[in-house]
Amino acid sequence: MKADFLVIGSGIAGLSFAIKAAEHGSVTLITKNEVLNSNTAWAQGGISAVLPEALRDPGDTVEKHISDTIDAGAGLCNEHAVRAIIGEGEQTIDELVSWGSDFDQKGDRYSLGREGGHSNRRVLHSKDTTGHEIASSLLETALKTPGLTILADHMAIDLITTDKLGSVTDDRVVGAYVLEKATGEVHILHADRVVLATGGCGKIYLYTTNPDSATGDGIAMAWRAGARIANMEFIQFHPTCFYNPAATGPEARSFLISEALRGEGAVLLNDKGEDFTLGYDERGSLAPRDIVARSIDTEIKKTGASCVYLDVTHKPAGFIAERFPFIYRTLLEFGHDAEKTPIPVVPAAHYQCGGVVAKPDGSTNLRGLFVIGEAACTGLHGANRLASNSLLEGNVMARKALATMITHLGSGKLAPAPPIPEWEHGDTAPPDELVNIYHNWDEIRRTMWDYVSIVRTDKRLLRASFRLRNLAREVRDFYWGYRVNSDILELRNLVTAASLVVDCAMQRKESRGIHYTLDYPGTDPRFRQDTIICRP
Ligand code: SIN
Repeated sequence: MKADFLVIGSGIAGLSFAIKAAEHGSVTLITKNEVLNSNTAWAQGGISAVLPEALRDPGDTVEKHISDTIDAGAGLCNEHAVRAIIGEGEQTIDELVSWGSDFDQKGDRYSLGREGGHSNRRVLHSKDTTGHEIASSLLETALKTPGLTILADHMAIDLITTDKLGSVTDDRVVGAYVLEKATGEVHILHADRVVLATGGCGKIYLYTTNPDSATGDGIAMAWRAGARIANMEFIQFHPTCFYNPAATGPEARSFLISEALRGEGAVLLNDKGEDFTLGYDERGSLAPRDIVARSIDTEIKKTGASCVYLDVTHKPAGFIAERFPFIYRTLLEFGHDAEKTPIPVVPAAHYQCGGVVAKPDGSTNLRGLFVIGEAACTGLHGANRLASNSLLEGNVMARKALATMITHLGSGKLAPAPPIPEWEHGDTAPPDELVNIYHNWDEIRRTMWDYVSIVRTDKRLLRASFRLRNLAREVRDFYWGYRVNSDILELRNLVTAASLVVDCAMQRKESRGIHYTLDYPGTDPRFRQDTIICRP
């Protein structure tokens, strides 16, 4: 198969790019599950943007949004990237609306929410299912777009580079090997412009707000192909995930309670009913996420409680059901009425701030490879992402990536790729071997949760690194020994992504943003560390 553009991933970044690129050539978009199974579709809170003056919160400016982003980023944002991405908020909202996304309004203006770290109300939302609204309108547009082919249940195995094909002069990406899950066949998908929009790696942790698909596939593939990866130690933990000890399924254990509730006045309480967050930061429950997540972690350890509580019981009757219907309804299904009793919550892994080193247009050190959205590390988030900046990032990067490709990788500007060999299948794995390999999945996630979560130490990181090295060896033997399936591919990517997180965390000898270590509790300006690049 051949296309002018190959897009891997179907969140806001991948879909935005695919819709626009189809005006310039043939596009194939692959996604390993169904299209709406993405972090985008799961996003509750919203998308931040400073609207034209007549529509924005009085006193808000793009400069304030930029400065809030840089503030949250704890000294590691790349100001150029922040300006390039935050500066296009208005354009993004216009584009999404033109594709059919519907945001809540108050009278004739958008209703603007607020989240931690934002100095003004600037979060557009569609009740508490903003991501689903955006993803489904983009999908609807994509399905009507001529020249755009969407292949669901197709999982990329690896990128194909001319270097691996034996070229010594022209190293670039020319496509990917792709597993068709239904048949087990592996296809060569040839394209001179490949876009990775595969999202993050929340599933490396036992508890995460991410869907099962967040296994760091793009990061791992890019790494194997020779792309630079950075700042993977910065995994953002969302402070408020529903704590439900009676839960049996992963959905119940990882149900996100949007930060937008705190934006509307919800407060965090400890088991004595005290607003403990004020003891950690004057902004209390609305301090940036790293501070709130760490205060909860500390409070839980200090008091021996299993969770803290998010209290919205003081809001007028009906407010939660009206403004947050999805959260309210889902909690009721779990037997909890948020209007009557504070919601038990704990932090859980939520967002990967590092990733493949990319410019705001997604370009990387590998020619032909563009990485956009959560999989990319542009410097927008620095050491800690400002809430609701990522849907914006995905759409803006898609627009910029296409513009660069049209200018620099237009047709006729690239030499023909060398012939690509067919995939060679191994034997089907025996069932007892399969069981063992599935245990590794659990072990990785538990190791990361126990040793590499909100509060870290050198000793715990070293422990994690030893364990992951052994697991990686087992997974590698299995991958090379047997016929591939999507489970083994995800496991292989998961162990790589987890190892990259640990590698960066071990290199950072300071506490900064969401990387907090007891061994270097302060951010000593004399030893300030910049971007950390993963070591081969
Ligand atoms: C939330 O709704 O709390 C998540 C928003 C985000 O992570 O940007």
